[in-house]
Amino acid sequence: MAPSYTQLFAAACALATTAHAVSPIEVKGKDFVNSKSGDRFQILGVDYQPGGSSGFSATKDPLSDADACLRDAALMQSLGVNTIRVYNLSPNVDHSKCASIFNGAGIYMVLDVNSPLSGGSLDRTDPSGTYNSVYFEQVFGIIEAFKNFPNTLGFFAGNEVINEDSVYEAPAYVRAVVRDMKDYISTNANRSIPVGYSAADVRDILVDTLDYFMCDMSNSTSSQSDFFGLNSYSWCGDSTYTESGYNVLVEDFNNASLPVFFSEFGCNAVMPRTFTEVAALYSEKMTDVFSGGLVYEWTEEANDYGLVSINSTDTATLLTDYKNLEKQYSKVDMTSVETSNSSQTSKAAPTCDSSLITSSSFLNSWDLPSTPSKVAEWIKSGYGNATVGSLVSVSATTIPQTIYDWNGNKLSNIKYKVLASDESNTPNNSTSVSSSSSSGSSAAASSSSAGSSASSSSMSTSAAAGLSSASFMGLVTGATLFAALLL
Ligand SMILES: *[C@@H]1O[C@H](CO)[C@@H](O)[C@H](O)[C@H]1NC(C)=O
Ligand SMILES: *[C@@H]1O[C@H](CO)[C@@H](O)[C@H](O)[C@H]1NC(C)=O
Ligand SMILES: *[C@@H]1O[C@H](CO)[C@@H](O)[C@H](O)[C@H]1NC(C)=O
Ligand SMILES: *[C@@H]1O[C@H](CO)[C@@H](O)[C@H](O)[C@H]1NC(C)=O
Ligand SMILES: *[C@@H]1O[C@H](CO)[C@@H](O)[C@H](O)[C@H]1NC(C)=O
Ligand SMILES: *[C@@H]1O[C@H](CO)[C@@H](O)[C@H](O)[C@H]1NC(C)=O
Ligand SMILES: *[C@@H]1O[C@H](CO)[C@@H](O)[C@H](O)[C@H]1NC(C)=O
Ligand SMILES: *[C@@H]1O[C@H](CO)[C@@H](O)[C@H](O)[C@H]1NC(C)=O
Repeated sequence: MAPSYTQLFAAACALATTAHAVSPIEVKGKDFVNSKSGDRFQILGVDYQPGGSSGFSATKDPLSDADACLRDAALMQSLGVNTIRVYNLSPNVDHSKCASIFNGAGIYMVLDVNSPLSGGSLDRTDPSGTYNSVYFEQVFGIIEAFKNFPNTLGFFAGNEVINEDSVYEAPAYVRAVVRDMKDYISTNANRSIPVGYSAADVRDILVDTLDYFMCDMSNSTSSQSDFFGLNSYSWCGDSTYTESGYNVLVEDFNNASLPVFFSEFGCNAVMPRTFTEVAALYSEKMTDVFSGGLVYEWTEEANDYGLVSINSTDTATLLTDYKNLEKQYSKVDMTSVETSNSSQTSKAAPTCDSSLITSSSFLNSWDLPSTPSKVAEWIKSGYGNATVGSLVSVSATTIPQTIYDWNGNKLSNIKYKVLASDESNTPNNSTSVSSSSSSGSSAAASSSSAGSSASSSSMSTSAAAGLSSASFMGLVTGATLFAALLL
């Protein structure tokens, strides 16, 4: 057997080097900005929840398995990804290796603080009954776990909490959670990590939801959201800017004073996906309003949205969607994407006022629930029962798994590369994954129309165990150059 990442760890310690660190991202007006260079930062991201809900438990989450993270970081580096979103995380496992692997690859993390376990989220039908200290063990535990990583881009206070089923007061509770998280961060972390919300694409309440969270309230400044994510699947197949309704979204969000991005996109009603929306999203038409987005999702699960199929712990296969997304990413003009614009960064928020809210069914006041006393205590003196991660040094050149492409060809050129400090990953034509021959049949040619726009439902409840149980294909090869250093 080839050595695994963890086996190599002990042997490599003597060669430890300084830790690479990306520059933290901050919010300025309606843009994300690199805190060192001042360049604009737009998200070229993927949603990352290998195994779906069954990949998560109190002791195991997507950022607890260093071997898998190394594989995925290397493959994302080739693809051109600069951000992952992770939905379900546990405060009680150590994320230091995985977070450091993504940091080394120049990949940021935007993290949901909620969990599908009992008490781990705000109940949209009973927010007052679930806004309590049990819930905040999860919320503050996740902040503790990730607050020290430079590549922690932000935290989602909630995902699709407000929809047709939520009670009238739900927005006030979500805004209160944002407040408590930001208050916690300002007293217990070394930098002001942004906090935002991820909305379902419910068009008739979209602008109300945005206004409710982004408006400025002089008696509660910390309850204002720092960014706004939208889960949207309205561009399917070879659509257009107007046919997809992207033009309407641009109008809807045109007044936004904070960064807006797709926290999920990538309709799969037409397969394989060609990701032609990427060209629109990063074009002049949209970049005044949107800061990029995250493709749903990295791994192939039962709902058929994968870029990569994890065949076993030793074997993975890049799907046709990976190739198609890579092609679209490679055409993105990164100079334009990274250009800062002072009228963007100086945009100010409107003042909270009932006149901002247009739908009669949407809460139009900002009487936020007061912070539970135990939660207020933790804000003051810290929450102690979490595994606080910290950056460790990673140095690896290749990965221990065998990777196949969409034609069934074995790839030998997959590299994990630690970038120079302050660099983040970008699409890079010259390091793209490509196969040397084109024999065999396409890995993802089967068509399916399952999902479509209904797929934007909450990840914590919808994902199923979609991993195929393909038989073991043979010994891992090509891993001999692998080395990992951890400080
Ligand atoms: C801030 O960073 C320093 C050095 O990394 C660390 O020792 C300290 O615990 C951090 N403080 C907080 C509040 O996290
Ligand atoms: C944007 O702001 C303008 C001017 O205040 C207002 O007339 C318009 O309705 C706003 N649009 C949206 C979608 O909020
Ligand atoms: C990739 O190649 C295309 C076509 O040659 C070019 O337009 C694009 O700018 C390149 N992208 C990067 C990131 O170099
Ligand atoms: C700067 O952003 C504003 C909108 O926020 C836009 O109207 C303007 O064209 C942008 N300028 C450049 C040079 O892109
Ligand atoms: C804070 O201001 C908002 C908006 O003006 C108002 O709805 C809310 O009742 C105020 N809250 C407190 C505690 O005064
Ligand atoms: C700390 O968290 C662990 C894991 O969730 C739990 O078993 C334990 O009871 C907690 N301890 C305290 C003091 O809350
Ligand atoms: C992109 O490719 C060039 C040429 O191979 C290389 O020098 C550079 O380091 C690569 N950049 C990244 C971010 O991988
Ligand atoms: C891995 O899974 C994909 C998708 O199910 C399949 O097409 C491929 O043949 C599998 N490869 C191996 C090596 O098992």
